[in-house]
Amino acid sequence: APAARDRGQAPRIVALRRLGEEELAALNEVGQVDYFEDLNEGNREAFEAAMASAHGLIGGKLELDEAMLERSPNLEVVSTISVGYDQLPLEAMNRRGILLCNTPDVLTETTADTAFALIMATQRRLVELSCMVREGRWTSHVGPDQFGHDVHGKALGIVGAGRIGAAIARRGALGFGMSVLYTARAPKPELEQHLGAEHCSLDELLARADIVCLAVPYSDDTHHLIDADALARMKPSAALINIARGKVVDETALIEALEQGTIRAAGLDVFTREPLDADSPLARMDNVVVLPHIGSATHETRAAMARRAVDNLIGALVGEGPVNAVNK
Ligand code: DGY
Repeated sequence: APAARDRGQAPRIVALRRLGEEELAALNEVGQVDYFEDLNEGNREAFEAAMASAHGLIGGKLELDEAMLERSPNLEVVSTISVGYDQLPLEAMNRRGILLCNTPDVLTETTADTAFALIMATQRRLVELSCMVREGRWTSHVGPDQFGHDVHGKALGIVGAGRIGAAIARRGALGFGMSVLYTARAPKPELEQHLGAEHCSLDELLARADIVCLAVPYSDDTHHLIDADALARMKPSAALINIARGKVVDETALIEALEQGTIRAAGLDVFTREPLDADSPLARMDNVVVLPHIGSATHETRAAMARRAVDNLIGALVGEGPVNAVNK
């Protein structure tokens, strides 16, 4: 466990990325803050020096490994400005008694909006056809070659009906009259009663859904959950939407499936490696819509996430506990 802080000693806080003036001011009120807007060769040493005495770390896109934890003996709390924490060494943090806080709830609806943007874009081929207009290739009436596919009335398959998955299901069922299938460890009565959603196995969902939407957290259990075999189970007319994590999908198998017509289209906000290499076939195929991991990236939601992460950190370091603790 981290060395006990003297009572009355102001905590030292390292803040990294995604924080605005207000959040930094709130942190400065309770502790001594070192802020790094980003990390680069020029400030890496200063960052490591700050971490050597830090009690709290807060920020977006945090990357911590065990060696860094080793060099941060006072660290008590890590407050990530994200709901996902697959990039953080949770087991090592548990062993060291370091508390991890994240920002669920505040990004649920925005991330579900992003999923729907990808669903609309892939079904109606919005990006491809917008490019046609912008590039001066709209020269005659749009015909079957440019037709898309309906969204309303289709079968929406949600892999992982947690908070975000449920918000996508609501949009599909209530807004677009879609039938909803979902996977989850246990059936969710609220989804079944209010949306008429149907709990089923992954294999069944893949076989029946017109749109398969991934909303599971990334872990060893969900690594390459969608592999060549899973893609082969999907309808050739189906689209795959991923707003979860890139590594939930075997990207090589996905590229092959899209090239060979095993599935029709994909809408992807996340990739195995980010930023996505512009030379990736995924960035070049007409039937693929790619976004730069913007699931939660609106002004409103990123501000709410930063505020929640600050509340978590302050609550954990000097207050009555965090709002969202992952490992308490
Ligand atoms: C999250 O909150 O996990 C999003 O992917 C943003 O990082």
